[in-house]
Amino acid sequence: CGIVGYVGRSDGHGNAGHSALDVVLEGLRRLEYRGYDSAGVAVIADGVISSRKKSGKLSNLLAELEARPLPETFTGIGHTRWATHGGPTDQNAHPHLSDGGKLALIHNGIIENFAELKRELLAKGVTFASETDTEVAAALLGDIFRTKLNGDVSDGGLAKAMQLACQRLEGAFTLLAVHADQPDVVVAARRNSPLVVGLGEGENFLGSDVSGFIDYTRRAVELGQDQIVTITADTVEITDFYGAPAEGKEYHVDWDPESAEKGGFSSFMAKEINDQPDAVAQTLLGRSDINGRLTLDELRIDVEQLKQVNKIIVLACGTAAYAGTVAKYAIENWCRIPTEVELAHEFRYRDPILDSNTLVVSISQSGETMDTLMAVRYAKEQGAKTISICNTNGSTIPRESDAVLYTHAGPEIAVASTKAFLAQITAAYLLGLYLAQLRGNIFSGQIKDVLADLSKIPAKIQTILDNSGPLRELARSMKDEKSVLFLGRHVGYPVALEGALKLKEIAYIHAEGFAAGELKHGPIALIEEGQPVFVVVPSPRGRDSLHSKVVSNIQEVRARGARTLVVAEEGDEDVKAYAEHVFYVPETPTLLMPLLTTVPLQIFALELASAKGYDVDQPRNLAKSVTVE
Ligand code: G6P
Repeated sequence: CGIVGYVGRSDGHGNAGHSALDVVLEGLRRLEYRGYDSAGVAVIADGVISSRKKSGKLSNLLAELEARPLPETFTGIGHTRWATHGGPTDQNAHPHLSDGGKLALIHNGIIENFAELKRELLAKGVTFASETDTEVAAALLGDIFRTKLNGDVSDGGLAKAMQLACQRLEGAFTLLAVHADQPDVVVAARRNSPLVVGLGEGENFLGSDVSGFIDYTRRAVELGQDQIVTITADTVEITDFYGAPAEGKEYHVDWDPESAEKGGFSSFMAKEINDQPDAVAQTLLGRSDINGRLTLDELRIDVEQLKQVNKIIVLACGTAAYAGTVAKYAIENWCRIPTEVELAHEFRYRDPILDSNTLVVSISQSGETMDTLMAVRYAKEQGAKTISICNTNGSTIPRESDAVLYTHAGPEIAVASTKAFLAQITAAYLLGLYLAQLRGNIFSGQIKDVLADLSKIPAKIQTILDNSGPLRELARSMKDEKSVLFLGRHVGYPVALEGALKLKEIAYIHAEGFAAGELKHGPIALIEEGQPVFVVVPSPRGRDSLHSKVVSNIQEVRARGARTLVVAEEGDEDVKAYAEHVFYVPETPTLLMPLLTTVPLQIFALELASAKGYDVDQPRNLAKSVTVE
């Protein structure tokens, strides 16, 4: 989600530097790439909070403000939403109010313990108007302000209440709040979600990133983890969650407004590749308890029916279908349920066999892909149970499915999918583990171990991103290649397919992915002197002889003149002898390796396409969401 906050002041003659509403709306316009399923604002005038919110794009909110204008004021907050809990409705849009309408709060992130807090507040007689975790945070803050602090604003007031509230909140969040009794203050808090302060003259700003205020100031302050910041027109005060003073780091923003939206990256695709640690972390958040049990209560589907499932069919298109292919290996391994993966547009025309014990899992970033939607409808008609894995809350495919597990990758803007892919694999793995847990297929200790390994993935992706210099250099040097091949086995096979797809999509280079074992049955005839071949190598620590088989495949192509570019696990020294270049990824169990080995292939495609001067965000002939069959 995108967040903006502003406090300015009147010059004493009724004139001010800026109107809060103008600043907030301009910020939201620049932040709309962070979420566009609903938007809302709140301002304080004459000791009263006024708020407007609307589902849909920012333009809907602007129309609402035209119809029902807000007063000119100097304090305001605004939000543009990408739904996690609760669909994209007017009701669920932010801000959420509490303390009898005197407090307004906006939020980005996921409050993991919202159900427990909600029960507590309900018992106290608090009522709720939405399904969001945000409203729970608003109610908690309001309750603390009113009952614990007796509405006393002399000792920090809202800031103090925010400290106490944050001590109770778990998860990842950025919160911004205003209170009618403190009309010239905005209080914000952050844990694992982004927030920056913008410093002005007689006015101060808050934003999810600098694009929230880049039209007004270039002076920004970076906040640390678990910090609270209180801004007025003239002051910026930072503390930790217990009130101890803290320092922010000031820096100068030299990005132009457009590159600020991309976080300073040259493209949305570059930014989204870089966002991947967060996309995986957010998708894991709040879905297991401390005992290592999956808690997917959001899957409102009859558990008994899930226990009866004797066949799984994964349906998707493009990158999402490769995420499904990766997931098949894990789901079959953990659940012992036969699992097929099929391109959605092929599925329904071949008279597939399915019944009420079939679970159809559709995977779609947009939730609007017509081919996938039609396949889901067909599966439902045949009586199958349908679960959708989707990144877009409230979109058609999840709406028409029996249940949905959202990926929390945030909006993906670049046409070629990157962060959604890793989030789809993560979500499909959670679903697989959940089914295994329900059916008692694997020991709870084993589930706990996988969850622990998954939780380490974000940091490992970061390591790959931080060490990608040599890979980028190689990609740039290969911009005139006419063809690149990709090989992989087991879960490395769909990774090879995805690596080839990325290159086709954005660099317009002929690229193909093969199962390494299939090489000798045909594709090896393609190999000639100088042919670049990427090989995704499994862990040498893995079971079976997978590793040595793939090493043999590298030798086979190399012996025929191929340039071998190898993605392998850290510590795998054996591959060095046969590789022109080796790109190492951190150690991780075999089934989780795609979450790491995909990343170098994405970076390779991005860098090569950029070197060719192509628009990587909007490749020719492609659309982000294909709503025709
Ligand atoms: C289009 C996009 C691909 C995407 C596919 C599936 O073809 O260009 O990048 O993988 O659709 O999209 P979905 O939104 O269903 O995941």
